Amino acid sequence: MTTVEERPHTGFGRTLRKEDVRLVRGKGNYVDDVRLPGMLHGALLRSPYAHARILSIDTSAAEAMPKVLAVITGETLKGLGLAWMPTLSYDVQAVLATDKVRYQGQEVAFVIAEDHYAARDAVELIEVDYEPLPAVIDAKKALDPDSPVIRDDKENQADNHIFDWEAGDQAKTDEVFANAEVVVAEDILYPRVHPAPLETCGSVADMDPVTGKLTLYTTSQAPHAHRTVYALVAGLPEHKIRVIAPDIGGGFGNKVGIYPGYVMSIVGSIVTGKPVKWVEDRSEHLMSTAFARDYHMRGEIAATKDGKILGLRVKVIADHGAFNATAQPTKFPAGFFHVFTGSYDLQAAHCSVTGVYTNKAPGGVAYACSFRITEAVYLVERMVDVLAYELKADPAELRMKNLLQPEQFPYTTQTGWEYDSGDYPKALQLAMDMAGYDELRREQAEKRERGELMGIGVAFFTEAVGAGPRKHMDILGLGMADGAELRIHPTGKAVLRISVKTQGQGHETTFAQIVGNELGLPTADIEVVHGDTDQTPFGLGTYGSRSTPVSGAATALVARKIRDKAKIIASAMLEVSPDDLEWAGDRFHVKGDPEQAKTIQEIAMAAHSSLELPEGIEGHLDATTVYNPPNLTYPFGAYICVVDVDPGTGGVKVRRFIAVDDCGVRINPMIVEGQVHGGLADGVGMALMQVIAFDEEGNHLGASFMDYLLPTSLECPSWELGATYTPSPHHPIGAKGVGESATVGSPCAVVNAVLDAIKVRHADMPLTPAAVWGAMQGRPIRT
Ligand code: CDP
Repeated sequence: MTTVEERPHTGFGRTLRKEDVRLVRGKGNYVDDVRLPGMLHGALLRSPYAHARILSIDTSAAEAMPKVLAVITGETLKGLGLAWMPTLSYDVQAVLATDKVRYQGQEVAFVIAEDHYAARDAVELIEVDYEPLPAVIDAKKALDPDSPVIRDDKENQADNHIFDWEAGDQAKTDEVFANAEVVVAEDILYPRVHPAPLETCGSVADMDPVTGKLTLYTTSQAPHAHRTVYALVAGLPEHKIRVIAPDIGGGFGNKVGIYPGYVMSIVGSIVTGKPVKWVEDRSEHLMSTAFARDYHMRGEIAATKDGKILGLRVKVIADHGAFNATAQPTKFPAGFFHVFTGSYDLQAAHCSVTGVYTNKAPGGVAYACSFRITEAVYLVERMVDVLAYELKADPAELRMKNLLQPEQFPYTTQTGWEYDSGDYPKALQLAMDMAGYDELRREQAEKRERGELMGIGVAFFTEAVGAGPRKHMDILGLGMADGAELRIHPTGKAVLRISVKTQGQGHETTFAQIVGNELGLPTADIEVVHGDTDQTPFGLGTYGSRSTPVSGAATALVARKIRDKAKIIASAMLEVSPDDLEWAGDRFHVKGDPEQAKTIQEIAMAAHSSLELPEGIEGHLDATTVYNPPNLTYPFGAYICVVDVDPGTGGVKVRRFIAVDDCGVRINPMIVEGQVHGGLADGVGMALMQVIAFDEEGNHLGASFMDYLLPTSLECPSWELGATYTPSPHHPIGAKGVGESATVGSPCAVVNAVLDAIKVRHADMPLTPAAVWGAMQGRPIRT
């Protein structure tokens, strides 16, 4: 197939990123850069306990401090009916604790002062009398009858149970398992990790006492959804709320939800009549904002003796922390976990997921993945390797034998997904060729003879991105469609307004490229406006790699509307029928006569001129649209990781990483590769070094980057990337999302490589040197 890079005049290709003109010069404008006249500063007092009753709070010393304007507690909020706020999963979460604290780091009081330092100092003077309670830390024990009930604020909540959810055909799956020649089971933990964007969360609220309009500058991946939630909670009409998400220093799912700090900056501005800024520090961020994963899985795989996989069965305990604040489509409390059948042709599958409360921070967000797909892919790709281990089969060959074949698409999985398109064997074969797979296995065998531990890990993944069709998907009742508005100025320069919000992934460039591709306008002539609810159409924001599949489609379609209108105007200009015109990439010309042509710029000027326009055609060259995707898009990939393990220390060196990704048509291959690089680094981090751990009392053990380790270039190899191109049949430009593919596919490839090196069937992440050493000795270590 011809790659997009080879096509002329498309607008697609390796264009440098427009936003980098400001971002790489340090001229970005982040929330903490916002400074408004008279602005005050807020700081939060947080709980030192994971579970404790609040007996009393004394704020007098803090209030008496110079520069302090107000100290707000949960009791103050209770009086205003604001002590609790709704979560995105139909639960409630304390804005400031009133009765109890339910995790370490929970918000207890808010100080407003003239400067940040005074606010932080005053926080230290607040005295809280706590009665410590036993903490529930182990998700598997959360439902024990003697476990303390965390959510005694809720009526009819007698235990720590949140939900039970299942997908697939249980009876059929049980039958397949009963008749299978081989059944292998494994306990697999996807530990709690944190998205850890470099910019922490923050907001500046400015309630204008005269107009009654609230302007909120905030770290939000979903400004429109946030605005509607604030409108519903505060009873303010939406036109009296303006949410501005300026530049964002990484989101990764962490900035989808609404945090108490945002709400408190608003309350603070209402109380003081002045703008109030709140920006958390790194420890606050790691302790209290949305975590990811924390899935405790019991997987089972059924197969024939010669390695034909027949079925998958999995039971999950999902640790959701103290409040169920996960962000995912309403119908799916376990997100898209039921995509766990992966890339294989199975006879049956069944999963059941039980959500539980524990004394940990809420969240459970899709950290760089589409709603729990990372957990699902990790499960299936570990189980396939566990099967290979038992059958003494080669993991790449076992996968090749079971992958879906190109002619099976569109393919409906045993749990109801309709995969749109794919050529899986081609991608795996390419990865194996790039790796030199057979040669690597020979090298491994030779090294084993010398006592050297080299491992080769294989993973294949299918993602489901672009949430989603309105009839299946909403968040808090809001359908997941996205709007786009395009205006062509008289001189042919354009402004595109979109509802999604870039957090560094280059929308200002790629969305301009989509318009350029449709209309033949130079990318430099197209401004992309985003992240301001007063300036952009409604839509649900950026997460789950949904921007290109949903908003990118809206962008292509709105440009096509403009092109249709431009054709009619061109026909008037050239005095021919529209049917006699042909589109030539950037102009309409008379069929058979390329000289008789009007460029899109000439047409734009004519649309604003005194030219008499055809009947029914309004002036100007503007259009709007709303795109409701008919299906998700299903990018996929084949990853191979090569590691060397130090037999003396258990230390792991990732020597090579080959990643073949297929996200259909690539708008900007350079940006796609950048997205893949980041996701692969994420995977190395999760596989080898990251975990948000707690001690038995619920003390958080990873509240700084000294303890919660981010991978650096030292831990990452030089990535070897490959691509196949299978367009999505239903996306207007054939693009599938890609932002999160690598985060989804890579952790398992690294883990499979390490376990292959030490010849161990399973060990849980993170595979720190101690964990690898323990596994080598047959003594699993859980960090
Ligand atoms: O929703 P999010 O932007 O995080 O994910 P995405 O839609 O997968 O896009 C990530 C970046 O890669 C955006 O700048 C996309 O426009 C770009 N991309 C691309 O150039 N070609 C694709 N087929 C998919 C994404």
